[in-house]
Amino acid sequence: MAKAQKPVEEHTAEEAAAELARLAAEIAEHDRRYHGEDAPVISDAAYDALRLRNEAIEGRFPDLVRDDSPSKRVGAGPAERFGKARHLVPMLSLSNGFNDGDVSEFIGRVRRFLNLGQDEVVEVTAEPKIDGLSISLRYENLKLIQAATRGDGLEGENVTANVMTIAEVPKRLPQGAPDVIEVRGEIYMSHKDFAALNEKQVQAGEKTFANPRNSAAGSLRQLDPEITASRPLRFFAYAWGEVLELPGETQMAVIAAFGDWRLPVNPLLRLCRSVDELLAHYRHIEALRAELGYDIDGVVYKVNRLDWQQRLGFVSRSPRWGLAHKFSAEKATTVLEKIDIQVGRTGALTPVARLHPVTVGGVVVTNATLHNEDEIARKDIREGDTVIVQRAGDVIPQILGFVPERRPAYATPYVFPTECPVCKSHAVREERASGKMDAVRRCTGGLVCPAQAVERLKHFVSRNAFDIEGFGDSYAQLLFEAGLVRNPADIFRLHHQVEEIRRVVLQKRLVQAKERVARTGKKPKKVISESERTYKEIDNLLLAIEDRHTIPLNRFIYALGIPNVGEATGKALAKFSGTIEGLLRILDEAAQGRPGSEWKRLSSVEGVGPITCARLLDAAKLEEFSDSINARPSDALKSLRLANTTVDNLIKEYGSPESIVKHVSQAALQAPKDAYRQLSEIKDIGLVVTDSLLDFYEEGHNREIVLTLLLEVKPEQIHELESNSLITGKTVAFTGTLEQMTRHEAKAVAERLGAKVAGSVSKNTDFLVAGVEAGSKLKDAKALGIKTLSEAEWIDLTGSH
Ligand code: IVH
Repeated sequence: MAKAQKPVEEHTAEEAAAELARLAAEIAEHDRRYHGEDAPVISDAAYDALRLRNEAIEGRFPDLVRDDSPSKRVGAGPAERFGKARHLVPMLSLSNGFNDGDVSEFIGRVRRFLNLGQDEVVEVTAEPKIDGLSISLRYENLKLIQAATRGDGLEGENVTANVMTIAEVPKRLPQGAPDVIEVRGEIYMSHKDFAALNEKQVQAGEKTFANPRNSAAGSLRQLDPEITASRPLRFFAYAWGEVLELPGETQMAVIAAFGDWRLPVNPLLRLCRSVDELLAHYRHIEALRAELGYDIDGVVYKVNRLDWQQRLGFVSRSPRWGLAHKFSAEKATTVLEKIDIQVGRTGALTPVARLHPVTVGGVVVTNATLHNEDEIARKDIREGDTVIVQRAGDVIPQILGFVPERRPAYATPYVFPTECPVCKSHAVREERASGKMDAVRRCTGGLVCPAQAVERLKHFVSRNAFDIEGFGDSYAQLLFEAGLVRNPADIFRLHHQVEEIRRVVLQKRLVQAKERVARTGKKPKKVISESERTYKEIDNLLLAIEDRHTIPLNRFIYALGIPNVGEATGKALAKFSGTIEGLLRILDEAAQGRPGSEWKRLSSVEGVGPITCARLLDAAKLEEFSDSINARPSDALKSLRLANTTVDNLIKEYGSPESIVKHVSQAALQAPKDAYRQLSEIKDIGLVVTDSLLDFYEEGHNREIVLTLLLEVKPEQIHELESNSLITGKTVAFTGTLEQMTRHEAKAVAERLGAKVAGSVSKNTDFLVAGVEAGSKLKDAKALGIKTLSEAEWIDLTGSH
């Protein structure tokens, strides 16, 4: 933002020194962005102004000239930057299409515009859209005299000296070419050359490039042409600007002439005569994409006849005669800079890919999930790899794989840590009941691991748990580190420590502001207004905490962050136990009657539910059972009314009939008490959840946390479901914006009335409630013949006014 600057003449030496320091950092940052990343963030004029200001201050205070002054650095001053080059014929862009329909529409538009008859064939060329940077090469009297980047389309940078070093660009055209012609096309770098260049950069301790496009741009815009010469840039010609006499009357003919003149042209250029042919060629190019050896991001279609191109002309900045049919935009490649390990609230170590920022489907992605250890090994993903990133909707981006040709030689297989990166405790993969290793490696630090503790706090305050607005991730971390909140109960005692919180938060903000200044050279905001804002924020946070002294029991249970206890389990437990006292009592009893491993083994056999298990155990007590099972095993088992598949599964699990008898008899001795059984038989709860609950409960420290928390918080019984409503037991979905209530409210009403709320529409959906601007769900519902309700009808039906 423009700010009134103090005239240099009024500077004190101290002010001058401070501003010179700031300017040195700021200009260095712009140089880095401009030259290193090829991504300037300010205009040339603004950059020049910074350097002029630097020079002016240095002129008045020559003693203060810094060692790292921009004026001492060669190669970055305004004079050394590239000169400008105007494009007499503007370099415009193409409009984009994303699906087959967009291609038919494009052809339809062309036909309508030209008023073509039904039988008239529209010939259209199709060729790869190269993902590089466009360039205009001006040949006069057959000699290359100027090369210019696109810039803003009207004026680019004169990069002639650099382009002269590119072997693939002819410096002379053969006799017969026009006296004046601007050949336009794309400068790019192949995958192989990109990988080799990055490798060299690493060895030289220089910065690496995120993708071939950046690397081509960075190489072309080097101030020293010798550097450009050392970079293997390539070129495809596909269009033209000013030209005295065109060598043909169609797009195809001109490109053929380019080829004759030894300008590189793309071998995948085809002439198509219908939408179907265009789409077929699109799919052909898409299928070849991975093996082309260079990046493309779509297919470009152009009306072949140049007289038609002329008539079609342009609409705003794109030609009516062309379309860029983009490949699905949700994938991109970038460099995986580092694999970080995050520790979750249950100690799970989750690998996270830190990526060189890349735009995927219009969103800048810097992190992606790598799932777990086995996944990294299976995909053989390594730090330094160029990886394919996919983003679908709002889910965390994923890494699909790496690009082998771009793997740097230094990349070694990733070794997953066997200790927690935070508390250094062992991290282990447990064996599951099935004998398989758990996919997740977990920190065994439990209560001593600070990472787990912070994650538990974050979970506790999260939206579906205590929903403490303003607490957020940063407060959880900060208050934990400051020792102000070690466990959830501490949150409710924070109001006694307002001063301390203010101090801690302000201090943190100050450090952050300093870091920001060091990084960007921007002045910090006024400290006074900053601290007022912080105080207000803390007051609001304390008010939000005050609001949560009562909370529905199901949310309370969910907030405890017990492994395997999600929202549905929280509800089921709350419904079953009614009150927190009831729940604690059940847990107490169940803990005293936990089953042994043989009983668990039997209960885990597929088909052996609680009833079958009880029947087997009862039978095992009878002597005749062992006799008859040994004599006629399957008959004996069937007499217990066991399904055939269950019998097969029992035999598979235990081997022989004798072995079944042996193990079932042992299981009978290790059976749980009723309270355990009741708990594990609740809908949505099973053995795994019951064991998780009891493991949690049996840990004295956890019980203590719950009991101290109960001194501060009162969990309320949840409303019994009103089961006589018309929507009880039905599945409901919502779409569009509701005007009378929020989605959240509507969902709560539905659930209270015993309906299930689905996120999408399927044949199992009973009603779709459609608000305004209803989207694709409405279409789906209509297609499936599902009943649709307006918001008013929904309100009537549920009586939720
Ligand atoms: S024709 C009026 N053909 O895509 C513009 N462009 O959005 C005519 N590009 O700036 C351009 N491959 O940098 C054309 N085969 C191709 C292309 C191509 C890549 C780029 C070019 C242009 C942008 C258009």
